[in-house]
Amino acid sequence: MSWFSDVQLGPPIEVFALSKQYNDDDFEQKVNLGVGAYRTNEGKPWVLPVVRAAEKALANDETLNKEYLPVLGLEAFTTAATKMLLGEDSPAVIQNRAFGVQVLSGTGALRVGAEFLARVLGKKIFYYSNPTWGNHKLVFKNAGFVEGREYRYWSEKNRGLDFEGFITDLRNAPEHSVIILHACAHNPTGSDPTEEQWIQIADVIREKRLFPFFDSAYQGFASGDLIKDASIVRYFVKQGFELFCAQSFAKNFGLYNERVGNLVVVLDNPEQVAAVKSQITLLVRGMYSNPPSHGARIVSRDNIRTMSSRIIEMRRLLREALERVGTPGDWSHITQQIGMFSYTGLNEIQSENMVKKYHIYMLRSGRISMCGLTPSNVDYVAEAIKDTVTS
Ligand code: LMR
Repeated sequence: MSWFSDVQLGPPIEVFALSKQYNDDDFEQKVNLGVGAYRTNEGKPWVLPVVRAAEKALANDETLNKEYLPVLGLEAFTTAATKMLLGEDSPAVIQNRAFGVQVLSGTGALRVGAEFLARVLGKKIFYYSNPTWGNHKLVFKNAGFVEGREYRYWSEKNRGLDFEGFITDLRNAPEHSVIILHACAHNPTGSDPTEEQWIQIADVIREKRLFPFFDSAYQGFASGDLIKDASIVRYFVKQGFELFCAQSFAKNFGLYNERVGNLVVVLDNPEQVAAVKSQITLLVRGMYSNPPSHGARIVSRDNIRTMSSRIIEMRRLLREALERVGTPGDWSHITQQIGMFSYTGLNEIQSENMVKKYHIYMLRSGRISMCGLTPSNVDYVAEAIKDTVTS
């Protein structure tokens, strides 16, 4: 009798299972709109020139070694990353009550932050948007939260934000709940609240004593402007909130497999920094001890703009192609949404049809990664959407 005979087969991770299916498919016109990973106009992955240059310089730098990094990571990186998010002139930075922890990409930042909230502060309930990135629930549950609840976010009818639902659900949340918020370019819908709506959201979060935990995976990638894409987090800090923000460098620096991330912690009182850092140190020590150095050494600021403008252009081309081929319905949401993903409005059956019939790989929720679109496959995709919604 094996120790493992009772182990049940777990469900596949949809987004990575799709990538495998795509790779195994030998259909010539196949398209991968599943995973959120940048592709060039030729449909190829792209290592940013600045990353290549940094890697060459690092390889030749004999002063660097492979010693352990501190448990909380490379300080040069966490300081620069924290300032990139909050701004050099942020009150929290100036008053030394904000700091960063180098973690294993955005997922690691969420996990370490959630572990702290659940295990050190005893928080039990977290809220996530419906829909949200497929991993939020698993990360928070595994970190020790007892209950995850949805707040309404997407209106099927308007193919946009359900603001009334969102704000009502926040109002009804029990005090001290943790609220996961997407800093910009909401994944999967691509629809963000307006500035006025964010002001109301912040007001409710303050009134109801909720804790904002931002997820920032697309700073600079969404609009091409680092400041604009961080403006909501900066607004919350200026309003005096204490908060966490999970900062990923996978997308904006194209460093997916280097797992470069920063957990930004903003406190009220600089005197509490040492204690909070010490507790995070213990959590990290018990999970993976200390982070890897390579990706953190590479991170720099260039070359983000090229990616964001190609994606904005692909939104325009997709909408144009859908309208040109006479696809029934209104497709303006494609260009109104922002960032890496578009929530097309295709339902589960239609999305599955896109995969089965057209070899166009996309999530069952109707989410497509705009990065997989190129000038040469956009017409094929538009035709397939048209056939799918009319059949
Ligand atoms: C995505 O949403 O496609 C990416 O963030 C990949 C992932 O880890 O889910």
